[in-house]
Amino acid sequence: MSFPVNRPRRLRRTATLRRMVRETRLSVDDLVLPLFAIHGTSVREPIASMPGVARLSVDFLVEECREAHALGIPAVILFGIPQRKDPLGSEAYADDGIVSRAITAVKEAVPDLVVWADVCLCEYTDHGHCGVIRDGQVDNDATLPLLAGSALAYARAGADVVAPSDMMDGRVGAIREVLDEAGFGDTVLCSYAAKYASAFYGPFREAAGSTPQFGDRLGYQMDPANAREALLEVALDLEEGADIVMVKPALAYLDIILRVHTEFEVPVAAYNVSGEYALICAAAERNWVDRRRIVLETLTSIRRAGADMILTYHAKEVAQWLRETR
Ligand code: PBG
Repeated sequence: MSFPVNRPRRLRRTATLRRMVRETRLSVDDLVLPLFAIHGTSVREPIASMPGVARLSVDFLVEECREAHALGIPAVILFGIPQRKDPLGSEAYADDGIVSRAITAVKEAVPDLVVWADVCLCEYTDHGHCGVIRDGQVDNDATLPLLAGSALAYARAGADVVAPSDMMDGRVGAIREVLDEAGFGDTVLCSYAAKYASAFYGPFREAAGSTPQFGDRLGYQMDPANAREALLEVALDLEEGADIVMVKPALAYLDIILRVHTEFEVPVAAYNVSGEYALICAAAERNWVDRRRIVLETLTSIRRAGADMILTYHAKEVAQWLRETR
């Protein structure tokens, strides 16, 4: 096996040859578009640190979903900005909460689109933490019924997938049980299984106004230094009934995506998060990098690592580019 008999460049000579030996293909089928729902009508509030992304009132959000669907994007994931935040995050599980209303409207307008609902309290609590606070700490077990109640509200509203992102222990089992008891046995559960305490969530917290008002999330989200712990988290969530497991963020955690993909026989989602998006936007704006090439390369690498689906704010532009190159 050596030169000159072996010449790997032979297979790189033409575009068609390269197309035939390509190992990883990015498809519109892999994409999930995150959207932020806000109260009101005809509201579009741009998010400064995420150029091209805005908080949308339900009417505009439905339009955005129609566009995504027309581009062939199979799914969206919805986040909500409530009217009022309180210590228990009540609007997360209120029947007329912003996300429940958005889900119903989207499913009515675009029934084919798979609607995911992020399940967490941090957008809805005045303290910005992902759970209930007791004695200055996030109380894991007291948080579970509120998360389960939120998931149930979204399932009732018509969500196809509920995706808990809070990182409380036992939340997958708690949600599955409540959904099943209420007759929502077919609602898919995607757990943010390996979710790291990451600086890459900065722009999202601006978008959702969900920055913790004291302390940080290190007591529940994972230490970026840990890999084996991610496998434990995934194993536990699968035991509790998760259908899809997520790794988040994506780019700094490609090794985790690969390990989860290799060790478990379930679909793996990766979240190409707000900070990853913001970094590319900022550099591309200055023409320091080629936006299209760098986005496609980034998402291809996430797929190559083993992600079956990618939640990404780039979804619409990517869908467009993939259409053009076909
Ligand atoms: C809610 C949640 C967050 C993200 C998704 N769900 C923020 C956080 O944990 O602080 C981040 C998404 C992104 O950065 O794009 N817990």
